[in-house]
Amino acid sequence: MNCRTEEKQKIEELIDLAIRQLSFSYAPYSGFFVGAALECADGTIYGGCNIENASFGPSNCAERTAFFKAVSEGKRQFRRIAIVGGKDGKITEYCAPCGVCRQVMREFCGPDFEIILAKSKKEWNVYLLKDLLPESFGPEMLDGKK
Ligand code: THU
Repeated sequence: MNCRTEEKQKIEELIDLAIRQLSFSYAPYSGFFVGAALECADGTIYGGCNIENASFGPSNCAERTAFFKAVSEGKRQFRRIAIVGGKDGKITEYCAPCGVCRQVMREFCGPDFEIILAKSKKEWNVYLLKDLLPESFGPEMLDGKK
């Protein structure tokens, strides 16, 4: 099996997990379900779903749920994230990450971190963080220790 086949399989595995996360989405206010699957540099994978709140502000996106689960278990290096979403959990369009989630990715990921937007295991596109968040502000500006 060549490297590209392995990468493709890994991406399909991530998309599969992201789709399964849709069933955990707690979105009674928007009705918009989002699922994410985050691959760490060591190959481990964390799923995440969006979690809304009656007070709206405390709501959390699927991508950040996945990141916070991973970081809270000691992970600091990441390879890629797959994202799916749609009204009532039906995926009809690609679901791009919101600006806040892009900034959270910027905290922990390099410019070549891959963001996979998927409609299914067969229909997906890969973007790089540097393209989705150009001219960004990051930890090195504050000399932050990660
Ligand atoms: N949402 C995500 O989970 N990820 C995104 O990047 C876009 C938006 C969620 C937040 C909210 O629960 C619902 O989608 C509608 O905005």
